[in-house]
Amino acid sequence: MKYVRAMCLMLLCLLLGACSASSPNQQHPADDADDFIVVGFSQVGAESDWRNAHTQSMQEALSEQNGFRLILDDAQQKQERQITAIRNFIQQEVDVIVLAPTTETGWDTVLAEARSAGIPVIVVDRMIEVSDQSLYACWVGSDFLREGHAAIAWMEQHLGDGPVQILHLQGSIGSSAQLGRTQALDEALGQHPAWQLAARDCGEFTEAKGQELVENLLAQGTAFNVIYSENDNMTYGAINALKAHGLTPGKDVTILSFDASRTALALTLRGEISIDVECNPLHGPLVRTLIESLRQERTLVKQTFVEETSFDTATLTQEVIDGRAY
Ligand code: AHR
Repeated sequence: MKYVRAMCLMLLCLLLGACSASSPNQQHPADDADDFIVVGFSQVGAESDWRNAHTQSMQEALSEQNGFRLILDDAQQKQERQITAIRNFIQQEVDVIVLAPTTETGWDTVLAEARSAGIPVIVVDRMIEVSDQSLYACWVGSDFLREGHAAIAWMEQHLGDGPVQILHLQGSIGSSAQLGRTQALDEALGQHPAWQLAARDCGEFTEAKGQELVENLLAQGTAFNVIYSENDNMTYGAINALKAHGLTPGKDVTILSFDASRTALALTLRGEISIDVECNPLHGPLVRTLIESLRQERTLVKQTFVEETSFDTATLTQEVIDGRAY
């Protein structure tokens, strides 16, 4: 009898333990009776090295050690998933919502719902186009058109008036990163008649899609000697395809890329990528400061552009790569 009672007690303890323990992936409800600032973060996805560095920067800055509880939602590059995530955050009564939007448009309704619930929204990375600017508290991110202009300035300096045949690999259509970088190229095509567009297609910012596009174009016999690739991961795919086709990146084909992540900079140092324009993903510390300002009801700067530069084969050094945070 004593034995049975002891067994029952053990079983009860195990059950209670299992109920109170939380797995690392578990989403914590926002109504925890604790002092954490609960942040719902709707992230675009995990499509690129840049995106992973962005997520990591946010996780490090908005950590429990710093007084935050971060609920991360990966939207797998789908806007409808982000809208659902924001509605879930509203239901959970989070303190702040951080939104890294897939595309610029389509946010008015859900952001109005967040505003009615009294939850401030901080937009990061890409921009949003809304009818009422008070639907979000502030924005932190890159000047994508300026990034495009930096790549074009390099082309003008190094390739002059051509003739060149450009393969344009676009990022996810409708995202600010795609819109700004594409606009810069379109402006330049209008100004340089000998710069021809050999092909243009969307690689969704992923290595697999970038590779597939370039493989198909090479198989079809499309001729090009410049690739304007709107992010590093599509560039990795393009380089794989070129090499598999017996072409030498940086020699047979000049490659311009965006992001300047560590792997891409190693390729730049080797001359496979000719110029890599930086897109800075380290938004976490800025977002943390903005949330703290919000909590103290201080006036917020509506738009903050992060600092960015470019790296080309002629000036890049191993030291710079070693010192990179991502
Ligand atoms: O919005 C930033 C862009 O999105 C980065 O250039 C790209 O790598 C990412 O996926």
